[in-house]
Amino acid sequence: MPTVAAELQPHHQGDSPADEANWWRQAAVYQIYPRSFADSNGDGIGDLPGITAKVPYLKELGVDAVWLSPFYPSALADGGYDVDDYRAVDPKIGTLQDFDGMVAALHAVGIRVIVDIVPNHSSNRHAWFREALAAPKGSRARDRYHFRDGKGMNGELPPSDWVAAFGGPAWSRTPDGQWYLHTFTPEQPDWNWDNPEVRQDFLATLGFWSDRGVDGFRVDVANLLVKDLAEDLPSRAELELMDRDSGTHPLADRDEVHEIYAEWRKVFNEYQPPRFAVAEAWVESPVRRAKYASPEGLGQAFSFDLLVADFDAGQFRRIISANLEQVRLTGSTSTWVFSNHDVARHATRYGLEPLKGRKVKQGTEWVKAGGPRETLDIDGGIRRAKAATQFMLGLPGSAYLYQGEELGLHEVADIPADARQDPSFFRGAEWDGLGRDGCRVPLPWEPDGPSFGFGANGAHLPQPAWFADYAASSQDSDAGSTLAFYRKALALRRLLQAGESMVWIETGNADVLHFARPGGWHVLTNFGTEPVDLPRGEVLLSSVPLNNGRLPGEATAWIRV
Ligand code: BGC
Repeated sequence: MPTVAAELQPHHQGDSPADEANWWRQAAVYQIYPRSFADSNGDGIGDLPGITAKVPYLKELGVDAVWLSPFYPSALADGGYDVDDYRAVDPKIGTLQDFDGMVAALHAVGIRVIVDIVPNHSSNRHAWFREALAAPKGSRARDRYHFRDGKGMNGELPPSDWVAAFGGPAWSRTPDGQWYLHTFTPEQPDWNWDNPEVRQDFLATLGFWSDRGVDGFRVDVANLLVKDLAEDLPSRAELELMDRDSGTHPLADRDEVHEIYAEWRKVFNEYQPPRFAVAEAWVESPVRRAKYASPEGLGQAFSFDLLVADFDAGQFRRIISANLEQVRLTGSTSTWVFSNHDVARHATRYGLEPLKGRKVKQGTEWVKAGGPRETLDIDGGIRRAKAATQFMLGLPGSAYLYQGEELGLHEVADIPADARQDPSFFRGAEWDGLGRDGCRVPLPWEPDGPSFGFGANGAHLPQPAWFADYAASSQDSDAGSTLAFYRKALALRRLLQAGESMVWIETGNADVLHFARPGGWHVLTNFGTEPVDLPRGEVLLSSVPLNNGRLPGEATAWIRV
């Protein structure tokens, strides 16, 4: 008997120039946080040769692309999102040669490479920031950042009372008395995008990595680059009252930012196939988001709507319909994501009471409380996460996965204060409290040994004892493991994806969503707890075993009808 997968023929061969240029439209993209993926030299920090060594694992997982969080030289004031040099590799992580080797190895197995570009701010160790500090007030070097005189008799007060994203003031004072703006930590001074040298330098960076063969870019806080810093700065209270949805807010999502991305697009289009980009832009509305996804701009924008939703049929349906409508207007495709390096893992969010209210905030609250394991429904969280992921992998558009979710990892909450790294922990960010280290703990590759096979010695963040139960090597040969489930789902998805449409099919049950994709691929998710009937057809995959042919609660099935 042939297996189901063998009977199916891929709908895309992916080798015509048009297919080549559109590879990203329905790609499954796996996010790697390089310092926590695999450590090849035993220094406790994941590195690029570590990624290269895991290429067979990534191939078997079945992803179309990887997105690497920053691997540039950095003092890690913000996990690498404080970049010292945009066109180099952190020596603790590898060399440019290692980078080339990694790209070649990934490309050899058909996996594309997306790198993270951080254009809102550099680090305070960047050569241009050092030059700015050494240069006098009003100099050309200072114009590349936002330097201002302070208020008060001697300029001893910051230019405004703005608060930085991870807590504390958004302005820091320099030894000569001026102040500079930083939306994030003081180690992350904001670039001045009105400065032509800054613009040129980023174009050079895009060319540098594109020439080295990267296929695309994930653009960090793409909505913040352009600022209107008028003579009289508004107060924090005034800022909060300002409309963030009009393109005229002084600090966020200003319309002029799209002029920058139009210039970037010209660089992307100089390559064959054109380089791809996806905007990280937490903007107010899908309409604003669509501007980043324009083909004249970055081309695609992250939708975090599912990530912040509850595990709830009604919410999922509304979000998906709204997002598909928006991408129809731009000609882009939607993106779906449940986990990344900034939020508590979705297995954990979905394992917390109340089970219908599993928003990101709730995961954060749980982490803040020290992550009491007795309040977490460990298996239930994984069950719901798998159901949600299988549902999402059935949707048209790109699916973004975060390292470790394929192992069913939960958030690590009990990291001692002196081992934590995230600035939002140390700076007491209002939106958080313990920070994002819990989803950045190095992966367990083996059930035992130093750092669970992450490297030959320890890991730069402490791994909990329970990681032993989630090791990739143990799941590898276990047909019932979460890893085996992800592999099957990704392999089938590749075969089943055809066209970019979907049609809702009414189920008459408010807890059950059902949609059909071209080619007779049906996706049915039961968000409730009672088993439900499936449409007639061949069940290709279900997130939990069926119960007498019926789909149990909190589960998804793919059916070929
Ligand atoms: C990244 C974060 C980072 C911030 C500042 C984000 O949105 O995803 O990890 O801390 O930008 O660069």
